[in-house]
Amino acid sequence: MKRCLVTGGAGFIGSALVRYLLSGQEDAAGVSRVVVLDKLTYAGRRENLAECGQDPRFSFLQGDIADSERVGQLLEEEAIDSLFHLAAESHVDRSIEGPEAFIQTNLVGTYRLLQAAHEHQKKMKNGQNFRFLHVSTDEVFGTLGAQDPAFTEETPYRPNSPYSASKAGSDHLARAWHHTFGLPVIITNCSNNYGPRQYPEKLIPVMILKALAGEKLPVYGDGSNIRDWLFVDDHAWGLTTACFRGVPGESYNFGGRAEVSNLELVKTLLSVLRELGHPQATEKLISFVKDRPGHDWRYAIDGSKSERELGWRPQETIGTGLRRTVEWYLKNGDWIRSVQDDGHKAWMQANYQGRSVTVGILN
Ligand code: NAD
Ligand code: TYD
Repeated sequence: MKRCLVTGGAGFIGSALVRYLLSGQEDAAGVSRVVVLDKLTYAGRRENLAECGQDPRFSFLQGDIADSERVGQLLEEEAIDSLFHLAAESHVDRSIEGPEAFIQTNLVGTYRLLQAAHEHQKKMKNGQNFRFLHVSTDEVFGTLGAQDPAFTEETPYRPNSPYSASKAGSDHLARAWHHTFGLPVIITNCSNNYGPRQYPEKLIPVMILKALAGEKLPVYGDGSNIRDWLFVDDHAWGLTTACFRGVPGESYNFGGRAEVSNLELVKTLLSVLRELGHPQATEKLISFVKDRPGHDWRYAIDGSKSERELGWRPQETIGTGLRRTVEWYLKNGDWIRSVQDDGHKAWMQANYQGRSVTVGILN
């Protein structure tokens, strides 16, 4: 039986993982306990876990991963054997506006968590069965040109933003705690996630909510930047297989097999919205705004190792996944109203005000 701790479990991916772990699906069949540790920053929401509250295997603790004493107690009291580490500051644009929180949580926080996990593992009876799953991103590998092969687990790290640099640093710490102290660490690197409950600061929810409101859609630069998109529930399944089936010391890439430019993606979203009865979502709303500094041009993931060794494969295509996502936002007005608070309004103003120079509008 698996006793799991999910850090950052009130966030977008963390809450999807918690739902998966409690789902009883084949790869989560042995899960007897799921504890969430989350600081509840602007991105962490109790409502993301609303469905889990009735499950006697679930419990929630508000706290910081950098609080070693509290984390140590929690690991011991709950007899945790599977730690999924997702807590992080996760938005590139915020890391450009204010990198400090990224250094504090992603680097210092991960270091403290690794130390607490190591102390806990040493005291366990079956410490060799303990797993520390460190959840990272493809952004640590840097940027690709059009003809470059996709990132593999062997691609050298070349992070370009404060966010990706802080994640790269945390990956190196996790790797070192395995190599030096023998902590059973597994690292995963995945492409851009999308799906229900993503905080409206990332591309897809920003565009859905603005299109519904008939507002301009701020595409950075010329919209040619390419991302690979992975549906969040596919990622949650992948993380579960990596933790329960992966080999300590190894890393695994997860990709959606769905590379698309930002402009194409926005146009597809608009057509899904129109199909679902929102005629105001026209391409006339697209507006090209000042680019992100240091904007990585292309990310692409080779997920063949995970597909081969973990028996994992993305189930959603970009078409089916985007439709499910749009339908979720259309049905969940209460969630949207609750996250669009003063903090969200302040961020939208701070991020988009300085980009208001429109360098082109589509006809
Ligand atoms: P998110 O911003 O939605 O959620 C992050 C969660 O971490 C929030 O609930 C927040 O309250 C919590 N948190 C932040 N600082 C904390 C701290 N010091 N202590 C405890 N909790 C804290 O992020 P997400 O999109 O769900 O990403 C989860 C993880 O996956 C991150 O590590 C991120 O780097 C990684 N990742 C995300 C993507 C993506 O496309 N979203 C892609 C690849 C990897
Ligand atoms: P984002 O969702 O922030 O993820 P990441 O930067 O981690 O890939 O952005 C995805 C892409 O969309 C990225 O190329 C930046 C671009 N983008 C826009 O063009 N406009 C926006 O308003 C946002 C938030 C992002």
